[in-house]
Amino acid sequence: MNNLAFLLFSFFLLLHSGVSELRLNYYSESCPRAEDIVKDEVKKLYNEHGNTAVSWLRNLFHDCMVKSCDASLLLETSKGIISEKTSTRSSGMRNFKYVNTIKKALEDECPTIVSCADIVALSARDGVVMLGGPFISMKTGRRDSKESHIAEVEDFIPNHNDSMSLVLSRFQSIGIDVEGVVALMGAHSVGRTHCNNLVHRLYPEIDPTLDPDYAEYLRRRCPPLSDPVHKAVEYARNDRETPMVLDNMYHKNLLNHKGLLQVDQYLLLDPTASPFVEKMASDNAYFHDQFSKALLLMSENNPIIGDDGEVRKDCRFVNEVVVH
Ligand code: HEM
Ligand SMILES: *[C@@H]1O[C@H](CO)[C@@H](O)[C@H](O)[C@H]1NC(C)=O
Repeated sequence: MNNLAFLLFSFFLLLHSGVSELRLNYYSESCPRAEDIVKDEVKKLYNEHGNTAVSWLRNLFHDCMVKSCDASLLLETSKGIISEKTSTRSSGMRNFKYVNTIKKALEDECPTIVSCADIVALSARDGVVMLGGPFISMKTGRRDSKESHIAEVEDFIPNHNDSMSLVLSRFQSIGIDVEGVVALMGAHSVGRTHCNNLVHRLYPEIDPTLDPDYAEYLRRRCPPLSDPVHKAVEYARNDRETPMVLDNMYHKNLLNHKGLLQVDQYLLLDPTASPFVEKMASDNAYFHDQFSKALLLMSENNPIIGDDGEVRKDCRFVNEVVVH
């Protein structure tokens, strides 16, 4: 090939790869206000129900970790689809109805342009800011899946008591290293955990890796499952000190043996992870930097691009196929 032909060829490749990749401001022409609309809705919802911001963060994990950031998480059970929300791994997930609020605001402005997968990503980004976390510049252009990945949910989302080696390998499979995992788990500095994920650490014996005073407090929150008064109080806050702030209190709590889930406390017990726990506990800015990097990686896991997938009209259902 002569130089000119090579140049033209390269230019052609550039044009064609450019149309189907995630990029910053993907909607700048097709729906210029898209990102502002998401931000405004996230802010409004946060002011009415603060824990929506917490949900947007958990949604990103549960959607992106399982195969692809493709809003498969949001699909309801219907017409041969079994919702990922029915998995026991999704237990406690909440506020899904408010995704529809965000979607409606976007549909009113530019119908069937902004994907539900991008809503998952952008709402998590803006939710993090509402929770006092860093602003993370995120690309857009994800398309929505036409199927649920219910069969794979348990392969990708670890259980509350899985070993650290399993947890690390899950994250590694999507390109997130140990430091990234220690940062991302800092998401457990906000929100809550239901007692069924905790009681095995409290009864019949108290888990020796748990701070005794903290264990007593948790026992008051969470009676044994067999107890008839169980249900009275059925969850504990992930972080008692700053429950609605995405900060390094999570890592400080781990150092004080106040990790809530077994997997949380395992971070401190793992020799490859514990140096990062200590570093993040002592430096909130460093935690925020690592959290941003890792959340960005997670948000770009294997997106659907180009002509694959679709842009759903309603995040809960795949679009109807029109038969002529
Ligand atoms: C090994 C990995 C992880 C495990 C096993 C795990 C497990 C859990 C469990 C059991 C809960 C409590 C749910 C409930 O009872 O209501 C929870 C809550 C939560 N998780 Fe994770 N998680 C993991 C990683 C992550 C990551 C990477 C993020 C986000 C970046 C995240 C975000 C959240 C949030 C925000 C909540 C609070 C939800 C709420 O209050 O509604 N988690 N997680
Ligand atoms: C983890 O907890 C579940 C209950 O949530 C239990 O069925 C399972 O046996 C536990 N696994 C381990 C390894 O302890």
